[in-house]
Amino acid sequence: MKYTLIFISLLLILSNACKLKKDINQSATASIEQEKTILEQQEMGVLADNAMVVTAHPEASKIGIEVLKNGGNATDAMVAIHFALTVCYPRAGNIGGGGFMVMRENNGNTHTLDFRETAPALASKDMYLDAEKNVIPRLSLDGHLAVGVPGSVDGMWKAHQKFGKLNWANLLQPAINLAENGYKLTKAEVEYMDKYKETIQVLNTEENLFTIKTPEVNSVFKQLELAKTLRLIAQNGRSGFYEGETAQLFVEEMERGNGIISLEDLKNYQSVWREALVGNYKNAYNIISMSPPSSGGVCLLQMLEMLENINLNECGFHSLSSIHLINEVERLAYADRAEHLGDPAFYNVPMENLLDTAYLDKRFESISILQATRSNIVKAGNFTDNESKETTHYSIVDTEGNAIAVTTTLNGNYGAKVVVGGAGFFLNNEMDDFSAKPGVPNQFGLIGKEANAIEAGKRMLSSMTPTIIEKNGKLFMVVGTPGGSTIITSVLQNFLNVVEYNMTMQEAVNAKRFHHQWKPDTLFVESGAFNEKLSHELKMKGHTLIEKEKIGRVDAILIHENGKLEGAADPRGEDKAMGF
Ligand code: DON
Repeated sequence: MKYTLIFISLLLILSNACKLKKDINQSATASIEQEKTILEQQEMGVLADNAMVVTAHPEASKIGIEVLKNGGNATDAMVAIHFALTVCYPRAGNIGGGGFMVMRENNGNTHTLDFRETAPALASKDMYLDAEKNVIPRLSLDGHLAVGVPGSVDGMWKAHQKFGKLNWANLLQPAINLAENGYKLTKAEVEYMDKYKETIQVLNTEENLFTIKTPEVNSVFKQLELAKTLRLIAQNGRSGFYEGETAQLFVEEMERGNGIISLEDLKNYQSVWREALVGNYKNAYNIISMSPPSSGGVCLLQMLEMLENINLNECGFHSLSSIHLINEVERLAYADRAEHLGDPAFYNVPMENLLDTAYLDKRFESISILQATRSNIVKAGNFTDNESKETTHYSIVDTEGNAIAVTTTLNGNYGAKVVVGGAGFFLNNEMDDFSAKPGVPNQFGLIGKEANAIEAGKRMLSSMTPTIIEKNGKLFMVVGTPGGSTIITSVLQNFLNVVEYNMTMQEAVNAKRFHHQWKPDTLFVESGAFNEKLSHELKMKGHTLIEKEKIGRVDAILIHENGKLEGAADPRGEDKAMGF
C-alpha cells in the first residue's frame, strides 16, 4: 500500500495525464456513437459484412476467402490457407515446421491446438556444445541437426478431423494447383530467394529449385515436387506426411546430411489440444491465447495485468510515460519467461504464480517511474511452491462468426535452409528455440535455463502468440504476428492501440512498435517511431535505444460495434486482407 501511494504520487508528478486504476472502465465503455464518429475520420482496413481472412500472401488470402464463400468454415479456410502458404510463402509457410492455433467458436467455446515441433528421440541436452561445453555457433540454426520433428500436417489434420466441414482433399487442391501451375514472383520474393541462395546451396545435399539460378521477378514459379508431396497428404491425410514416401524421403535427407530425425520420430509426432489461456483486461476484454509451450499467452496476460494499473489512454500514445511503463512491464515479463517457461510435459511451469494478481501488482510496484530498471538487477520472480527469422500469422473469421488465429513458422527464413530431396519442402530450424546452454542467447537474444533445456520429445519454448479477444462477451479481435521474441510485445501494442488509443485495426497495425525483452537491456524501436526529443528523454531515463527497421508483421481482424469486420494487413509486408 505504502509503495502504491509513492508510486501514484510519482506517476502524477511525472504526468498528471496518467491516472491509475479508478478510470479502468472508461476506455472500455466508450459509447457506440462516439466510436462511430471517431472511426469515420480514421484510416480503415478492408471492411466486410460476412467473413474475412488476412494472410501474408495475396494468393493464400484469395484461396482462403474462396473456401469461405463456398460454404467452408474457419477451419476449412485455415487448412486451405496453411497449405497454400507452404507453396507461395516458402520462407515461413510450411509443412516442415509447426505452430499454434487459437479458435473461438461462435458459441463462445474456445480451443487451442499446439502443433509445435518436438526434439527428436536422439536429441540431448548438450547436443550443440563442444568438448569444452561451449555452444558451437550456428549448429542449432543451419542444416539437418537444427530440425525439430514437424507438427504442421498433424495439426491441420487434427483440426480438420474435429471441426472441418468440407472435404480434406478438396481443401488441399488449390495449394496443389498453385504448386503445379505456379504463381508470379514479386520483387520481394525474388530478393529473398537470391539473398539466401548461397547458404541454401551450401546446406543442401541435392540440387533443388532454391539452389539453382534465381528466377526473374514476375516469372511463374512452379514447384512440382512439392505438388506431389501435397497430393500424398491430400490422399492420405497425416500418413501422407509422417509415413510412406514422404517420410522415407525425409529420413533419407536426414541421413545424407547427418540429421537425427527417424521414421519413428515422424510416426510418433502428435499435436496436442490444450485448454486456452484466458485472462481479463479492465473487466471488458477477455484475452484468449496460447499456453505453454508458447510463452506468448502467459507473458501477454502478465503484461496486461500489470498495465491495468495505469490509464494508458490518458498517458497518450507513444508518450514518454506510456513507453517507459510499457517497456518496464515488458522487461519484467521476459525475465519470468527466461526462468520459468518451457514445455509443461517436461517442466513444472508455475502458471498460477506467474498469473497471480498480487504477484503481478507487486512486480508492477517495483517499477520506477523516473528511471529505467537495469536488467541485471531484475530477476525472475521466486516461487516457493516449486511445483533472421521468419514466421507467418493468419487471422480468419467465417460467415458464422467462428474465429481462428494461427501463427506458424520454420523459425528462420527458410528454416534450416534444407529442402527434403525429392519432396520439395523446407525443414524448420526450431531446435534453436531451446536453450542450448543456460544463459547463452539464441538467435533472438533470448536466454533460458532448465525449463527450456533440450530433452528428447520435448517442445521448444515459443513466443508465438495467436490471440482472440472478446469484448463484453462478443468476438472483438483476432490478432497475431511473426517476429520471434518481438511477437508478444507487438500483439500487446496492437491491442493497446485499439482499446487505449482508439485506433482502427489498420491504424493499430500500421503504428510503429517498440520492444524490450529484459536481456539484452535494450529498448528496440522501429526506425522513425520516436522523435529526437522523445528519444532523448528516454535515454535520460536510462533506456538504451537501438533502431530496428521493422518489428513484426501483424495480420488482424477487428469486429466493430456495428458488426462490420475490419481486416488489417500489415504494410510492412505484401500481406493481404480479403473479405465479403
Ligand atoms: O516460436 C518462436 O517463438 C520462434 N520460432 C518464432 C520465429 C519467428 O517469429 C521468426 N520471425 N520473424
